[in-house]
Amino acid sequence: MENHDLDPRLLTQLRELEAKYQLTGQNLVDNLTGLQHANYLRYWDYIRLDTLLSLQNPRTDFPDEVVFIIYHQITELYFRLMLWEMQQISGQAQLSTRFFHERLQRLNRYVENLVRSFDIMVLGMEPEQFRQFRMALLPSSGFQSAQFREIEIGATDFFQLLEADYQNPLTEKAEIEEIFPYVYWKRGATDAQTGEETITLQHFEEKYRAHFIQLAKHFRSRNLWRCYLSLPPDGFTEKIRAEMRRFDQLMNIEWRLSHFRSAVRYLKKDQETLSATGGTNWQQYLPPRFQRTIFYPRLWSEEEKKELGGETG
Ligand code: HEM
Repeated sequence: MENHDLDPRLLTQLRELEAKYQLTGQNLVDNLTGLQHANYLRYWDYIRLDTLLSLQNPRTDFPDEVVFIIYHQITELYFRLMLWEMQQISGQAQLSTRFFHERLQRLNRYVENLVRSFDIMVLGMEPEQFRQFRMALLPSSGFQSAQFREIEIGATDFFQLLEADYQNPLTEKAEIEEIFPYVYWKRGATDAQTGEETITLQHFEEKYRAHFIQLAKHFRSRNLWRCYLSLPPDGFTEKIRAEMRRFDQLMNIEWRLSHFRSAVRYLKKDQETLSATGGTNWQQYLPPRFQRTIFYPRLWSEEEKKELGGETG
């Protein structure tokens, strides 16, 4: 083909590519040869489908254990998406209200999907099967989901995650190492009879304690709440406030309620309550009305705070 037959857009593209490679001392022709020999990208390679589908390894032969594993994995992928958005927000050198608002909307969409889909757990397994395969999974628990804690740490000031009695101006200023022992979630993995830490908690802390402390330090000045406070007032202010409140409600009331419903369905049998992982009193821990975690107390009135998770929790 003669030069003059070439699409002018192609010539422009070639020149731009040549300039790009020259910048790093590379040769365009060599790179084009590489492109000529490279295989086409296929969907299954891009999505890593074979790897993805090789990750479901039940510990028993009960068919419903597969539902349990896959739904946990789906949830962890949503958590991953949420953390991805949170990192982008906190990493912005010049955070704009538009960007913040859009990313908050994404976060809320992800949690809404999780809340809506929780019936896959609540209704989608046979209780008899669940109660049996669950015994093969002890002492592991969704409690040990590190990403869930990372989302909490990225969402707010760390002292807001302490047991209510420890939330005060002193703990707000304290070093993370000092206040970490009072984090609210410890109560969820403490033996109801003896008051001792369960093995579930010990394993979790062994693996993640240092990481959580480091993450809380990283987010200290740029968690979602701090980012929110740094924004200039403009046309987005009210919308952002509404999305922040929604996020708080979705994470701390709606998700927790859906999750609690699954514990009730599977761990309560007739009048008997089955003990949770390591003997924790999940009935006194999981319902939002006992937990009362709030990421953004300053966005709720006193009246609203009382109602949050109150009667409904
Ligand atoms: C049938 C389904 C489920 C049941 C019966 C159940 C039960 C429980 C129980 C009893 C606890 C309290 C801690 C313990 O004793 O282990 C707990 C905590 C937890 N589970 Fe689940 N769970 C279910 C599904 C899920 C799923 C799908 C996830 C998603 C990752 C999940 C994530 C969590 C988290 C993050 C906690 C800690 C909550 C907190 O600290 O407030 N659970 N679960």
